[in-house]
Amino acid sequence: MIVWLTGGSSGLGLHTAKALKEAGHTVIAGARSFHEGEEDGIHHLLLDVTKPQSVTAFCERALTIAPRVDALVQCAGILILGPCEETSPEEYQRVMDTDFLGMVRMNQAALPLMRAQRQGRIVMFSSINGLLGIPFQSAYTAAKHAVEGYAECLQMEAKPFGIQVMLVEPGDHRSGSDKYRPHAAAMSGASPYAAEYESSVAVIAHDEHNGSDPDVLGRKIARALDRKRIPFRKRIASPDQHLAVYVHRFLPAKLNADILRSYYIRKKKP
Ligand SMILES: NC(=O)c1ccc[n+]([C@@H]2O[C@H](COP(=O)([O-])OP(=O)(O)OC[C@H]3O[C@@H](n4cnc5c(N)ncnc54)[C@H](OP(=O)(O)O)[C@@H]3O)[C@@H](O)[C@H]2O)c1
Repeated sequence: MIVWLTGGSSGLGLHTAKALKEAGHTVIAGARSFHEGEEDGIHHLLLDVTKPQSVTAFCERALTIAPRVDALVQCAGILILGPCEETSPEEYQRVMDTDFLGMVRMNQAALPLMRAQRQGRIVMFSSINGLLGIPFQSAYTAAKHAVEGYAECLQMEAKPFGIQVMLVEPGDHRSGSDKYRPHAAAMSGASPYAAEYESSVAVIAHDEHNGSDPDVLGRKIARALDRKRIPFRKRIASPDQHLAVYVHRFLPAKLNADILRSYYIRKKKP
């Protein structure tokens, strides 16, 4: 398979690119920090998913490396941590532009090619946060919820053209880089949210640093892509995160919010 992959320079994108390459696929990966070339058998191209010209250039260049695209795997993503009150509209826009509209731009570039081939696979990285909110990650949670809803529509529209859609919903993995998790600019120690924010960010960082193995996730995606029928949702998470999603679906919303709040916001002992 010829696979185009976004966000291939670090984290889950990098691990997924390696697993796909090891499974025998031709991987053409894009990221802003890439220069054109080949590394460990993976083709690197410059790509900024927030810039339409960059998306077009990536696709044109990829088609000169291999004249088709069998799968588009979208891992590019950023996260801005901050209270809803202190995350600026521009910060929300930045996260939406990368995590959601970036996927829209890439899909709109790949769909005509896949339709002409009458087959294709589109894989979009959502998150457990695409299914439930947690404190101080509202921009990311909103963007991933947008991805979830959008993917449900896309799968129905793309089906007659032989194009399958898959959402990957990872739980915490020990892969992400802190440079893609900045704090909202307005957030400071003087904020009325400071103590709860500090607790929540510490729990988020702890869970990610002690999260699941990103190589295992890469291999699971490679295996799923090899199937004739790919699943629409592929949740790759620890048992407690699977449980959190299940509980979120069935418990009353207020009780669920209290449980999540008490997990993330831990009062310091006096
Ligand atoms: N790590 C986890 O525990 C976890 C959990 C759930 C979901 N996810 C999802 O998995 C995906 C990867 O996250 P990660 O935390 O593993 O990786 P990460 O280390 O945060 O890497 C983010 C990747 O996105 C790329 N990127 C950011 N902005 C971009 C842009 N405008 N254009 C093109 N590429 C861009 C970065 O490359 P450049 O800076 O070089 O452009 C980098 O390769 C994301 O969609 C994330 O939401 C991760």
